[in-house]
Amino acid sequence: MLGPVILAASRSDKMRRFVSAAPGTKQVVARFIAGESVDDVVPIVRELSERGLEVTLDVVGEDITTVEQSYAARDAYLELIGRLKELGLGERAEMSVKLSMFGQSLENGHELALANVRPVVEAAAEIGTTVTLDAEDHTTLDSMFAIHEELRKTHPQTGCVIQAYLFRTEDDARRLAANGSRVRIVKGAYKEPASVAIQDKPEIDKAYVRIMKILMDGEGYPMIGSHDPRLISVGQELARRAGRKLDEYEFQMLYGIRSEEQNRLAAEGHRMRVYTAYGTDWYGYFMRRLAEKPANLLFFVRSILTK
Ligand code: FDA
Repeated sequence: MLGPVILAASRSDKMRRFVSAAPGTKQVVARFIAGESVDDVVPIVRELSERGLEVTLDVVGEDITTVEQSYAARDAYLELIGRLKELGLGERAEMSVKLSMFGQSLENGHELALANVRPVVEAAAEIGTTVTLDAEDHTTLDSMFAIHEELRKTHPQTGCVIQAYLFRTEDDARRLAANGSRVRIVKGAYKEPASVAIQDKPEIDKAYVRIMKILMDGEGYPMIGSHDPRLISVGQELARRAGRKLDEYEFQMLYGIRSEEQNRLAAEGHRMRVYTAYGTDWYGYFMRRLAEKPANLLFFVRSILTK
């Protein structure tokens, strides 16, 4: 019940101002956001790497309103990649990007986002890593998939995300699995209408299993993005049945969520990648994490009240 209300609030400027200024917010945000700057995140990449975990780095931000902000987003990723190169951490960390932060919703946004993301993909390739395009709300996806296809012409390792809650996703999964893409499957984190998305959680889980099967049986590289223990064990079983070796798929979880399970999977020999978000524009990302688990909201409200 609370999830959709929090997701609606994630798009409200008034709520953004309230939440950002509330005492106690910083402490709760720190559970999910690895820091504000490259300097904050580098030691975390190192630490995760020492624990045998891989990383995908997200400079938080979305729904920008000016072209200059889209250039700033591109430059923030280029700075990050430059730093990873200096420190020799390139192969351990890939990048996750939201095309809305690269200008996708502005005038000529499709072309702008492509022009901004291309140098990031090229710079990532130079340090031996790659980029995955996150999936945002359903109105942005045709453009995201077209950009993904375009980038793959020169950089076939470029990945993308698909969301189990959307009716379209099984078809997308079939197309992507056949063309050998790296594909992250997630349940989906946005507030979507019943005309385009499954609303019932158990039905979303069933769709997730069907999609995982398509990806595991296909030609690409499946990335299982979930903290759900049942889906993780189904994923392991589907990989086994498809005859995939441990380096032919991976699991992914978010920074700050189920860390012990992350360690356990890595210790079992699985490739386990931690989606690590950092930056100052954390509001949308943070609110989606609250929406996923009502207990997070309680913790957040309590921390405001006790300050
Ligand atoms: P579910 O929500 O059922 O959670 C299973 C269990 O995990 C919970 O019972 C709880 O223990 C724990 N858990 C889950 N979320 C938690 C939280 N916020 N706080 C504390 N505990 C939590 N979505 C999207 O639309 N586009 C995208 O590009 C991405 N990218 C992405 C990358 C990666 C690596 C992950 C793991 C997830 C995403 N997501 C995403 C988010 C995704 O759509 C989904 O909202 C979350 O992963 C939560 O769904 P689960 O599969 O974890 O199951």
